[in-house]
Amino acid sequence: MRILVTGGAGFIGSHLVRRLVLESGHEVVNLDALKYSGNLSNLKTIEAHARHTFVHGDIGDQPLIEHLLREHRIEGVINAAAETHVDRSILDPGAFARTDVVGTGVLIEEARRAGLQRFLQVSTDEVYGNVETGMSTETDCLAPRSPYSASKAGGDLLALSYWTTYRFRVMVTRGSNTYGPNQYPEKFVPLFVTNAIDEQPLPLYGDGRQRRDWLAVEDHCSAIEHVFFQGEPGQIYNIGGGNEWENIAVAEQIVRHLGKSRDLIRSVQDRLGHDRRYAVDCSKLRRLGWSPVVPFEEGLCATVQWYQKHEDWWRTIKSGEFRQYYEQQYRQRLQEGVTETRVKG
Ligand code: DAU
Repeated sequence: MRILVTGGAGFIGSHLVRRLVLESGHEVVNLDALKYSGNLSNLKTIEAHARHTFVHGDIGDQPLIEHLLREHRIEGVINAAAETHVDRSILDPGAFARTDVVGTGVLIEEARRAGLQRFLQVSTDEVYGNVETGMSTETDCLAPRSPYSASKAGGDLLALSYWTTYRFRVMVTRGSNTYGPNQYPEKFVPLFVTNAIDEQPLPLYGDGRQRRDWLAVEDHCSAIEHVFFQGEPGQIYNIGGGNEWENIAVAEQIVRHLGKSRDLIRSVQDRLGHDRRYAVDCSKLRRLGWSPVVPFEEGLCATVQWYQKHEDWWRTIKSGEFRQYYEQQYRQRLQEGVTETRVKG
C-alpha cells in the first residue's frame, strides 16, 4: 500500500516508518516538519530505500498535502505528527492547538477530499484524563486536563467526526506511555537515563507516586499497523503495555541498570495539573488479534543499553535547543529539590 506517514522523523513515527517499509513491504511517503524533536538521523537505515520518500513539511500546509496525496497516489494516511510533551504544552499551549487540532483538521480534510481508503489518527490515553481507579475503555467520556491532552482530544474527536459525518474511514488509537530507542530526551525515561549516565540529578516530580502504563515502541507500532489494516472504520482502539509502574519505581530501575547511586533521584516541584494515573483497557484491540510482546523489565534494560551505545545521538540533541528548554524547565526546580530518600524519610 502507498501510505503517507506524518511525523515520521520523530520517535514513534520513525519506528513505524521503518517497520512499514522494511518489515511489511509498504511504500511510505514520510512527511515531517523537522521541528525540535524531528530528527533525520532517526531515518538513516531507510533514507535511500526505494520504498521510502522523505518530504520536509507541515501537516497544516494544505497545498502541500493536496499535492503529495495526488503526486504519490497515496491510499491511506497515518497521522503521527504532533506536539507531544506535556511540560512544553504548559509553557506554550498555542503550538499544541495549531498542530494537534488545526493541523489534523487540514490533513484529514485533504485525505477525505482525495477519497483515500483509510486514515489512522494516533491519539493518546491522556485524553481520558486522570484515572484514579479502574481502566479507561474506548466508550468512556474524555476529560483531558493539560493543553497537550486537550489538543489531542480535539484532533481525536475531529477525526472521529469524519466517520459520523462523511463515512470517511477513520480509526483512532489511544496509546499509553511509550519508551524505547530514539526518544527525545525531554521524556521521563530518556531524560533519566541520559542524566544518570552523566551522573546528573534525576528530577522526579512531586512524590513520584504517579502511575503510568509503559508500552515498548515496537509494540505501539505493531498495534498501529494492526489497527490500520484490520481495524473497523469509525472505531477507537486503546493500546497499552499492561505494565503499570509508579514513576519512582521506574527511576529506581534505571539507576540500578546503570549501576548508579539512588541519590541521583531528586524530588522536585510537581508538574502543574499533573495527572496521577492513566490506565487503559485493551481488550478491544486484543479481540482484534493484537497483543504486546515486550516485557517492561527487558524493554527498559534494552532501552538503557541503546542510550549507552548511542551517546552521539543524544549528546547532539542535549547540546542544542534542548539546553535552553532544560534550563527553563528544571533549573529552579533542581535548586529547590531534595534527594528523594529525604522525602521518603
Ligand atoms: O500516556 C501517553 C503519553 O505519555 C503521550 O501521549 C505523551 O506524548 C507522552 O509524553 C507521555 O506523557 P507523560 O506526561 O506521562 O510522559 P512524560 O515522559 O513527560 O512523564 C512520565 C511521568 O514522569 C509523568 O508522571 C511525569 C513524570 N516526570 C516526567 C519528567 C519529564 C517526572 O517526574 N520528571 C520529569 O522530568
